Amino acid sequence: VREKGVVVAIDGPSGAGKSTITKLLAARLGYINIDTGAMFRSVALMAKRRHIDPDDDVSLAELCRALDISFLRNGEGYRVIVDGEDVSRAIRTEEISLLTSRISARKPVRAALLELQRRMGAQGGVILEGRDIGTVVFPDAEVKFFLSASAEERGRRRYLELVARGENVTLEETVAKVVRRDKQDAEREHAPLRCADDALSIDSTALSIEEVLQIMEATVRERVSRQ
Ligand code: DC
Repeated sequence: VREKGVVVAIDGPSGAGKSTITKLLAARLGYINIDTGAMFRSVALMAKRRHIDPDDDVSLAELCRALDISFLRNGEGYRVIVDGEDVSRAIRTEEISLLTSRISARKPVRAALLELQRRMGAQGGVILEGRDIGTVVFPDAEVKFFLSASAEERGRRRYLELVARGENVTLEETVAKVVRRDKQDAEREHAPLRCADDALSIDSTALSIEEVLQIMEATVRERVSRQ
C-alpha cells in the first residue's frame, strides 16, 4: 500500500506531449511529477563534460554512482539539480538529446536510474513520465498511460518549439530527427520503448492538451476511488 496515493506511469515517444501533460495532471491531482528523461539527460550531460565515451560502461557506472540528481519545485517552476548545479537548460540542447538516446541504452545507466526512480516513487502520489515506467520501473503502477502521436505531428510540435526558441531549423530535418530517436529508443536491447499490456493507449495527434488531460484525470480518479 502506498502512503500518499497511487503511482501513475506515462510512457511514450518524444514529442507526444508527455512533459506538458504530466505537469498539468500532477497539479490537478496534487501529485508530484517526475521527469525521468531529465535524469537520463543529466547523466548524458555529465558524461559529455567528463569526456566519458558513451560505450564505456565501467566509467558510466562509476559516474552514475557518484551523481546526485534531484528535482526542485519552486516559484521558478521545475528545476533539475545535479551535484548542486541547476542543469535545467543545459540538458535540453539537440546535442544532449541525441547523446541521451545513446547513453540511456546502456545497461549500468538504466540500472542506476531504475533504483533512483523506484525510491522517488515508492510512497505514491506521483506521476512518472518516461519510456519504460509501466513496463520496467513500476510494472505494478495502478494507472498506466501510453501517450503517442504521429511522427509528423510530433516533429511539427518540436519544430515550433525550436523556432520559438530562435533556433534555425527546418521542419523536414526536425521530423527526421524525431524518427531517428524513436527508432533508437524502440530498438534498443534494454528496456525498449513499448506500450505495457495493461496501459491505456492515447493517440494525441488530433486531441488538444485539455482533451488528453480530461481522459487521464478521469481515469486516475476512477482508479483512486476503488482503492
Ligand atoms: O523524454 P526525453 O526526451 O527527455 O528523453 C530523453 C531520452 O532519454 C530519450 O532518448 C529516451 C531516454 N529515456 C529513457 O530511455 N527512459 C526513460 N524512462 C526516459 C527517457
